[in-house]
Amino acid sequence: MGWTPNSWRELPILQVPEYDDQEKLKSVEAKLASMPPLVFAGEVMALRERLADVAMGKAFLLQGGDCAESFDDFSANRIRDTFKLFLQMAVVLTFGASMPVIKVGRIAGQFAKPRSSPVEVIDGVELPSYRGDMVNGNAFTPAARIPDPMRMLEGYHQSASTLNLLRAFASGGLADLEKVHGWTLDFISDSSQAKRYEEIASQIDDCLNFMHACGISSKTTLPLRETEFYTSHEALLLNYEEAFTRKDTLTNEGGYFSTSAHMIWIGDRTRQIDGAHVEYMRGIKNPIGLKCGPSMEIDDLLRLIETLNPDNAPGKLTLISRMGADKIMDKLPPMLEAVKASGFDVVWCSDPMHGNTVKASSGYKTRRVNDVLGEVAGFFNAHDMVGTHPGGIHFEMTGSDVTECVGGDVQSVSEEDLSNRYHTFCDPRLNANQSLELAFLIADLLQKRRGTKDGLAKAS
Ligand code: PEP
Ligand code: CO
Repeated sequence: MGWTPNSWRELPILQVPEYDDQEKLKSVEAKLASMPPLVFAGEVMALRERLADVAMGKAFLLQGGDCAESFDDFSANRIRDTFKLFLQMAVVLTFGASMPVIKVGRIAGQFAKPRSSPVEVIDGVELPSYRGDMVNGNAFTPAARIPDPMRMLEGYHQSASTLNLLRAFASGGLADLEKVHGWTLDFISDSSQAKRYEEIASQIDDCLNFMHACGISSKTTLPLRETEFYTSHEALLLNYEEAFTRKDTLTNEGGYFSTSAHMIWIGDRTRQIDGAHVEYMRGIKNPIGLKCGPSMEIDDLLRLIETLNPDNAPGKLTLISRMGADKIMDKLPPMLEAVKASGFDVVWCSDPMHGNTVKASSGYKTRRVNDVLGEVAGFFNAHDMVGTHPGGIHFEMTGSDVTECVGGDVQSVSEEDLSNRYHTFCDPRLNANQSLELAFLIADLLQKRRGTKDGLAKAS
């Protein structure tokens, strides 16, 4: 069947707003379609190559950021702190895995949210659910909850300025490996995770000093001075995505690209094989993600893989498993087996957040760090059993000192603490300490695998 950037419009669609004013919607869509792209085909193809390495077990994917970005909570310092935390996690992982870590933010476009319920009830008052700042407002008032197409324009402009800053951070000096000690956020500097990080940073210093003596420094060597940082979001609001679907004119790639982000993904609630979201995603050349929750049937997964990546292009498809700590060992191994047997190459990535959301007795939506770590350990275990690559991690985090997930090794957050700094606009995120703890756990798991693999290679 022929594909066009708007062929999704003919198919059933879930989780999108109904706009009252169709004329206004049309004029916003036309305005968006005239705006400059946020990313370029060459960068998108570079990420695909990196992900092809991940699929072969030669690199590790680190994908994370806010559950939902917000218009009000937008500042340069927040972006800087999240970026620094990313750099720290990447250092910890690179050290553990001895392989490149591909950094992909849930940032510069993560503004539209699928919801479990179309309505929210507070004290007997029922209103439409908040669906992300690009759709409607978070305030619990009837006016705020009306979807407004103008919000897509604001989302675009915020994404553009976020990306501008990220590009400056990635290549303007902040990511210089010689600044490795400066990435620790002030509020965690005394924690045991930060101390563990400092030990690694000191070893990197020693390596850099040795390399200086050999005439190599970050001044002479670009990969020491700069880093690659890619953007991603859930492609939920297809009116917005269609407007940024462009034919590449600079490189000779051919075909259509999403220029709203380097990578976009299909959520667990919108992955119907004959639905609009799958239709849109099958036509673009970007690397794409597909969330795989516990209700995913193996046959459906195989059909989705064939639909989304019929040519088995390397690095094209990332399967993001989000089963829940209690289900992963039942659900994931048979999926890994089936995909392996199908001969399709995919990146397997673990989202240990979305299958582990619980309600605290105080009413806050939260996640227990132990469940998050438990699901990651299960993910590695499942891959060890089947002989496939645990390629990456997809998680919700922030560089701010929030109290949204409970537990953690240091400065542990209790259920009573949740109300102190619960700032998320949607799901609870790991704070900086909890994120570093996760990075150290994964680094240990990767190191163990490396040990076993080296051992196996020696034995054979
Ligand atoms: C998300 O990633 O924020 C999300 C809603 O995930 P899922 O589609 O896996 O529930
Ligand atoms: Co979320």
